[in-house]
Amino acid sequence: MIDLHSHILPNIDDGAADESETLALLRLAAADGIRQMVATPHINPGYFDNNKLTINTALASARALIHQHQIPLQLAAAAEVRLTEQLIPAIEQQQMPFLGLWQSQRVLLLELPHSHVPAGTDKLLKWLGRQQIIAMIAHPERNRDIQTNPALLQSLKNAGCLFQLTASSLLGDLGDRHQQCAEFLVRQRIYQVMATDCHNLQRRPPKLRLARQTLAQLTDDDYAEALVCGHPAQITATLDFGGEL
Ligand SMILES: [Fe+2]
Repeated sequence: MIDLHSHILPNIDDGAADESETLALLRLAAADGIRQMVATPHINPGYFDNNKLTINTALASARALIHQHQIPLQLAAAAEVRLTEQLIPAIEQQQMPFLGLWQSQRVLLLELPHSHVPAGTDKLLKWLGRQQIIAMIAHPERNRDIQTNPALLQSLKNAGCLFQLTASSLLGDLGDRHQQCAEFLVRQRIYQVMATDCHNLQRRPPKLRLARQTLAQLTDDDYAEALVCGHPAQITATLDFGGEL
């Protein structure tokens, strides 16, 4: 399996606190059957001021752990980018890392606020489209407005967005509301990717294998396989798992 969304790099956001936690998460991910992983630290100005330099530096230390401890897993990096007014200038200055390509468009892992879908999101998505960028919306099932009114996703879908399901939402580890919304959206087959969004050992460890089984029970095996293998492989085909951002 390929995990497209993780906070596994040490001491760079609210994910792994240090190298020992990174190492433990890498071991868990490999034992869970994850063979390729994309580290996607938060970029959220004023909260997580990451950039290509900070991410590449942390990526190098995580790769050194993989090499030193012979963990059977390849690691690349991109970012989970918060929707803020700084996003457009950062893209214009080529500061934003991408997950890869989907139908020749660059894929940006985009995080909405957890409370609502901001006004003007549709305009931003159209602007991204003109730059040949497609947004993959991170875990829409965790957004309170979408939980209340899942039809809000339709306008994002119409704008061409991709959607990423978080495995722990589907497993119920993040609470009933997240799970119910995830199950509803899974039955609509709205998602293209399922990923761990792993942060730490206690609350959000990487658990993709069990979530894949649950996903297959709710839909079918082909859909589950596409979300953890086929589509992630397609998106990351151009990503260099040995190189930098
Ligand atoms: Fe995340």
